[in-house]
Amino acid sequence: MTCESLTLRNNKNNKVKLELRETVRFHTKMTEKSYGGNNGVREHIGGKITKTSSKSIAKSKQSLKSQSSSSSPNTTDDKEQSKELQDYKRAGEIAKKITEYAKLIIKPDMLLVEIAQKIEKEIEKHNAQPAFPVNLSINDIAAHYHPTLEDETKAHGLLKVDIGIHINGFIADTAFSLDLTPDKKYKELIKASEDALNEALNILDENPTLNDIGNTIQQIIQRKGFSPLINLCGHELAQNTIHAGITIPNYANNNNNKINPGAYAIEPFATTGQGKVYEGPSSNIYAITHLKNTRSPTARKILEYVWEKNKTLPFSLREIQEKFGNMSRLALKELEQAGIVHNYPQLIEISHNPVSQAEHTFIKTPDGKIIVTTR
Ligand code: CO
Repeated sequence: MTCESLTLRNNKNNKVKLELRETVRFHTKMTEKSYGGNNGVREHIGGKITKTSSKSIAKSKQSLKSQSSSSSPNTTDDKEQSKELQDYKRAGEIAKKITEYAKLIIKPDMLLVEIAQKIEKEIEKHNAQPAFPVNLSINDIAAHYHPTLEDETKAHGLLKVDIGIHINGFIADTAFSLDLTPDKKYKELIKASEDALNEALNILDENPTLNDIGNTIQQIIQRKGFSPLINLCGHELAQNTIHAGITIPNYANNNNNKINPGAYAIEPFATTGQGKVYEGPSSNIYAITHLKNTRSPTARKILEYVWEKNKTLPFSLREIQEKFGNMSRLALKELEQAGIVHNYPQLIEISHNPVSQAEHTFIKTPDGKIIVTTR
């Protein structure tokens, strides 16, 4: 799953330019809200849901980052750190297996909803949970699309499959692109994002700046005659949080900060188009942003179900439809209007050209070691 570094709200070029400055400011707030993890969610629903432990999350965010001051391997911190690392690694291994499974089963003209259901079942078999609903985005939809139950869209063209797995909230985020055209016309476009990702991972050992990573991605994609999507980015991960703070650019952005110990996803996107996305219609993916009471009994039931199962991690309208039936769409609309859930928009290439994506998750340990968990 990706993050937007800049939000474009309309596909009419003149309007986009006018709104750009406003939306940048707006988005700074939205990022906190829509990806902010459990820390901001403290309210109760009908007395059933109590405070999330923001302390334990802050601690978990800290543990991979903190250089151990003790040489003893038996301190609580060390134990927590190695447990966290194990969970990240295990999530990565499972994500890799699910990726292999998805590559095997996805065929042209298969219903997207069938692909989504099969991938979810496979994740269950591994005793893991999705960190977000699998993104199945076709052609100019760069990211954030998940079919509804009645969706008749079939796999075709250039399909991006973005998979998230978590173990105890520690996330592996990985994506690949499939060329489902008979003449394989997107082969080079797919190779561009894959090469950019591999090279970005290769230079991590050299302790690069964020600009170095973005520049590497941009150069490789441009050398092949394509453009990177400049307003989508890789991102830091933390427990139960898909976007934890740092963003990893897909172009040279002059940010000379280095990468601190922690977990991160790098995700280059390449396109034959202009290289930006705008926010389109709903992706059918939601996440709880503010827990509070809602009058509608169905909406409340859905909220309790999602909170129990996902906390603030994204969920799909489709899984709610499977569990709660016909009322789901309306109930989610109510939750959205009450400011309780965020409805993720589809991210669509501004000139409606095809987009390819590749993504891996890596860990930087406190002693500077790089571990790519999903490869
Ligand atoms: Co991601």
